[in-house]
Amino acid sequence: PAHVTRDCPASIADAAIAPPAPGEHVRIFDTSLRDGEQSPGCSMTAPQKLRFAHALSELGVDVIEVGFPASSVAEIDAGRAIAREVRGSTLAALARCHAGDIEAAARTLDAARAARLHVFISTSPLHREHKLGLSREQVIERAVMGVELARRHFDDVEFSAEDALRTEPDFLAEICGAAVAAGATTLNIPDTVGYTTPAEIRALFEYLRANVRDAHRAVFSAHCHDDLGLAVANSLAAIEGGARQVECTINGIGERAGNCALEELVMALNVRSGYFDARTRIDTRRLLPTSRLLSRITGMQVQRNKAIVGQNAFAHESGIHQHGMLKHRGTYEIMRPEDVGWVQSQIVLGRHSGRAALSDRLQSLGFALDEARLNQVFAGFKTLAEKKREVFDADLEALVLGTDAPT
Ligand code: KIV
Ligand code: ZN
Repeated sequence: PAHVTRDCPASIADAAIAPPAPGEHVRIFDTSLRDGEQSPGCSMTAPQKLRFAHALSELGVDVIEVGFPASSVAEIDAGRAIAREVRGSTLAALARCHAGDIEAAARTLDAARAARLHVFISTSPLHREHKLGLSREQVIERAVMGVELARRHFDDVEFSAEDALRTEPDFLAEICGAAVAAGATTLNIPDTVGYTTPAEIRALFEYLRANVRDAHRAVFSAHCHDDLGLAVANSLAAIEGGARQVECTINGIGERAGNCALEELVMALNVRSGYFDARTRIDTRRLLPTSRLLSRITGMQVQRNKAIVGQNAFAHESGIHQHGMLKHRGTYEIMRPEDVGWVQSQIVLGRHSGRAALSDRLQSLGFALDEARLNQVFAGFKTLAEKKREVFDADLEALVLGTDAPT
C-alpha cells in the first residue's frame, strides 16, 4: 500500500496540530511495564503498575504489555490485578517459547477482556550459537511450538524474533512465515541491541512484507532500542517500510539506553501527518501527565531538554526567539504545548533575553512603563541577569518598585 506520501505539508510552521491524518492506523504497543520496568531504576510495585496501566489505557494505548509473568510470582499478581481492572486496551504478557512461561502468561491474563500472548525466541546467529545452542531448524521448531501453544489460549498471538536486526534476512523471513502458519497474528521485529539505521530497517520491513509467506495475514511490528539514539527514527522508518504496530515506552525507559519513546514517536506522526500517512488513537493531551506520573512513580526524571515532555521543550530564553514567539508562536514552535499537556509555552527571562520579552512580562505583571523607565528597568534587568541564571517575576517586581531584589 502507498503508506507514505512524499509531499511536504503546506505549512510546516503552522503551530496547531493537524487533525488526525486519514491514513492507516498504527497500533501503539506500550511496554513500559515490561521492557521499561525491567531496567535499572524503573521497578514498580504491583499497585504502582496497576495505576500506571490505567493511565496508559486513558492515554489511548492499543496494547499494554503488563509484564513477563514467568519471572516471578509478584509479576503474575501485578499482571492479574491489571487484567481484572483495566479496560479499553488489549493486555499482553510476554513468554519465552517454553510451556511453563506460556502457561504463566495465560494464567496472568485470565480475566482480561482482550488478551494477547507474546512469545519470543532469539534468531540471530550470535544468539543461536551462544545463548540457545540451537540450529536454525531447532529455533524454528521451538518458535512453532510456542505459537501453537499460545494459540490454544488466545486468538491474538504475537511472535517476536529477538535480535532480528542481526539475523540473516532469509532466515528471518522463513521463521516469520512459520510463525504465521502456526497462528501468529502479529510479527514483531525487534532491534534488540539498538544496532540498526533508518534506511536499513525500512528496507528490512519492505523485504519481509514481500518475502514472508502469507505476510498479509499478520501485522508487522517494530521494537527499537536506543543504544545509538536512533530508536524513534528507526521506528518511523519501519512505519515507512510497512510496520503497522510500534512498541515503545513512556519517556523511552527500557533496557540500557531505553526503548523508542512513545511521546516522541506519536508527536512525529502527528506533527508530520502530511508526510506520514499513518495515525494513532493516542490522546496527545495526556502525554505530559502520563510522563510525569511515570517519573513520580519511578523517581526517574527526564532530562530538561527531552523532546515533548522535558522542562525546556517549550521554553524560550534567547532574545531573538522570544521576539519571534511574541509575534507568532509558529516562528519557533512546531506544535502547541497545550496539545501535549502543557499549560503554555514558557518565556524564560535570563541573560540572553531582550527588551521585547521583558516589556511583555512587565505588562503581564500589571506594569505600564514609559520608554525611558523601561530602558532603566532593562539596564537593571541585564545587570541582574548576569548574576542569576533565571530572572523571576519577583525579581522584576523588585526592580520596578525599587525594593531589594529577593535572593
Ligand atoms: O528487545 C527485545 O528483543 C525484546 C523482545 C523480548 C520483544 O524486548
Ligand atoms: Zn526490548
